[in-house]
Amino acid sequence: MELHENKLIAEIEKLKLDFIKTTEKLIKDVKRQDKIMTRSDKRQQQEYDELQSKFAEVEALQKEIEDTQKEVVFTMGAIGESRSKETGNHVKRVAEYTYLLAKYSGLPEKECEMLKQASPMHDIGKVAIPDAVLNKPGRFDEDERRIMDTHAQLGFDMLQSSSRPLLKMAATVAYEHHEKWNGTGYPNKLAGEDIHIYGRITALADVFDALGSARVYKPAWDDERIFKMFKEERGEHFDPNLIDIFFDKLDEFLLIRDSMKDV
Ligand SMILES: [Fe+2]
Ligand SMILES: [Fe+2]
Repeated sequence: MELHENKLIAEIEKLKLDFIKTTEKLIKDVKRQDKIMTRSDKRQQQEYDELQSKFAEVEALQKEIEDTQKEVVFTMGAIGESRSKETGNHVKRVAEYTYLLAKYSGLPEKECEMLKQASPMHDIGKVAIPDAVLNKPGRFDEDERRIMDTHAQLGFDMLQSSSRPLLKMAATVAYEHHEKWNGTGYPNKLAGEDIHIYGRITALADVFDALGSARVYKPAWDDERIFKMFKEERGEHFDPNLIDIFFDKLDEFLLIRDSMKDV
């Protein structure tokens, strides 16, 4: 009997030892696994951090490109305007007005943003107009008027060959900002919706700002006179729908004008 008991105890002892061995091995395995995990976690984190910093770099570069583009575009517009003694704020206000008109015409946000950047270049063609014509005080004679009017075509010629969508848009703006809804504008006497919406929008924004500012050949008009003219030119010079938007949102246009006065 005792023998049998001893055998049993020995077996239990052996089982106990086996159990301890197995447990120790398990613990070791778990610990090793843990180490491996931490190491790969670390590596993953490192890779993630590297990616993040690359993203940030690309983003900064993208922003730099966009900012440069905006500045170049404004500068080009301002060059066109300054040749004819207009202020730098003129193109900035025109940019804001075109944005509003585009937005309330229902153009997608991205296009509104683009037009805001492209519209300041409407008079870029003026860089090629002789000073004597450009800065002549008083009325143009027929020849001078003809020369002056070429600035739309000239601007288009300068920009159209670009493959950049923004400059392509600016080419359209330069080309069509003197067309009139009733077909009496230049250079192509386009009428109604044959005039690109970018041209129609910039036309209104440009004239609104030009009338309200003093120029070499005229004093600034007061609001009453501008509004009367806009009502008369609804469906004549200007797209009737855009005139409606203008009066509908007049507060917003005047707010822009007041916040970006010439100094
Ligand atoms: Fe113009
Ligand atoms: Fe202008």
